Amino acid sequence: MEIKQIGKKNSYQCKHGKSIINHEIGSVTMLAKIVKELNPQLIIELGTGYGGMTLLLYDMCPNAEIHTFDNNPLYTSKLTPVNYHNQNIIGHNNLITRLCNDTRHKLLYCDNGNKIFEVNNYGYYLDIGDVIGIHDWGTEIEQKDIENLLRLFDPLEVNKWFEKNNFSSRFFRRHTGKLHKR
Ligand SMILES: C[S@@+](CC[C@H](N)C(=O)[O-])C[C@H]1O[C@@H](n2cnc3c(N)ncnc32)[C@H](O)[C@@H]1O
Repeated sequence: MEIKQIGKKNSYQCKHGKSIINHEIGSVTMLAKIVKELNPQLIIELGTGYGGMTLLLYDMCPNAEIHTFDNNPLYTSKLTPVNYHNQNIIGHNNLITRLCNDTRHKLLYCDNGNKIFEVNNYGYYLDIGDVIGIHDWGTEIEQKDIENLLRLFDPLEVNKWFEKNNFSSRFFRRHTGKLHKR
């Protein structure tokens, strides 16, 4: 995995191969490590952007089924063998709801234009053990925006590292929810 800085130190963009990731370079190695450890069978990414994070998710979990959504096709779907959906995530999106209801072990990564909406709207469909990742914590979304939802989730230990290093990703694992069998 080769990650390169784009622009100034502390810039919000870096490069993974040829694709841009809209995350601070310092956070990307840790993000990759977490995703690998979580080893989800199904990954739902809201907000593809240029597809750099999608590619990273694929590299970390090549056996997972990956679905990424964006209504602005900056991303060329030829980059990786993931499922790219040129769709609006705001409002009721049947496909996202169906994927979040899937019984496989899931990671929902929220990095779209309206974090408060997407986390509150889709997080409730997740099941026990599933993990939600949220970007832009502290600028576009904070604890009070998703307080009710977070009663069903525990923060992952790694949040302390993100906080200490001033990076804006957070991860939470669902501890209560639907009790159907996997
Ligand atoms: C910050 S970028 C995603 C960055 C990407 N996850 C990464 O790490 O490189 C946010 C994306 O959300 C998309 N977006 C904004 N509003 C949307 C909506 N209503 N439906 C679908 N996509 C939307 C934008 O087109 C943009 O590409």
